[in-house]
Amino acid sequence: MDIVVFGAGSLGSLFGALLARTAEHDVTLVGRDPHVAAVRKSGLAVTGTDSFTVHPKATTDGTGLSADLALVTVKAFDTETAARELATGEFRAVCSLQNGMGNEETLARHLDCPVLAGTTSYGAARSAPGEVEWNGRGDLSIGPWEPSDADAIGEEVGAAFAAADVPATVATADGIRRLLWRKLAVNAAINPVTALARVPNGALSGDPGVGLAEPVAREVAATARAVGVDLGDAEAVEAVAEVVRATAENDSSMYRDVERGRRTEVDVINGYVVGRADENGVEVPTNRTLWGLIRTWEAERGLVDPEPSTESLKVPGGDDRV
Ligand code: PAF
Repeated sequence: MDIVVFGAGSLGSLFGALLARTAEHDVTLVGRDPHVAAVRKSGLAVTGTDSFTVHPKATTDGTGLSADLALVTVKAFDTETAARELATGEFRAVCSLQNGMGNEETLARHLDCPVLAGTTSYGAARSAPGEVEWNGRGDLSIGPWEPSDADAIGEEVGAAFAAADVPATVATADGIRRLLWRKLAVNAAINPVTALARVPNGALSGDPGVGLAEPVAREVAATARAVGVDLGDAEAVEAVAEVVRATAENDSSMYRDVERGRRTEVDVINGYVVGRADENGVEVPTNRTLWGLIRTWEAERGLVDPEPSTESLKVPGGDDRV
């Protein structure tokens, strides 16, 4: 399969490398220099869970590309730009493999092809240009964003991952929506807590970290139920514990963003939960506090507008799916 991986950060580089490992796929990474230049020169080296080097194509220009699949792995606040660039090319399907909510909506607004939603708990970190650390195998699920996006390409994409030894569950539109909320519980619980406490994910396996992460997950589950998604408290709490175990050595993406002084994805994670909870009369004090803390740091650094309203996080048209 011809695959464009749009966003050669940690996860994009890892998935690009895993997919490029099989001769069945022709992979092009879209990213920034100096990473892209290093991949073009010496290949992409993976270390950690497994060690290998692959030689995918790599470019800094995301316009005018064509492929069977565009796998979108940019930060959520870059999805709009990515969607505009992808719209200048041609794809049979696009699949978001990003943190937070709202990405699929943005892609669907700009692209004519079927949109797939994906969730994964694979752990990865970019160590140096041309390198990525693989910090644990996780789960991967994909599914059509809307029932109207259901298409044979969904099964083909699942098979393409499987051919690269990355087993993927192909879910229905309702199934993937549930899994996106489950993943939201994982990111809402792990990311801001590890970013604020400056600890790897594994620190949330015992007290006092677990005592901070669990209420976050329960609040996300209550909000999910309020918008019609059947996610139990126990399942959300267990999902967090599973990812903490599987990625114990990993620094979460939000922790890395804070370390590097970069804007985080807190608005589309905890901020999204607060927005949906407020609309539905659900109390989410822990998510609100974590969102406020990270946002205060972002605003102080001039990375975001200091006074967002949860209004700005609402989905156009009132759909709760992002
Ligand atoms: O954002 C992250 O870091 C990842 O989604 C996860 C799964 C929490 C692992 O660190």
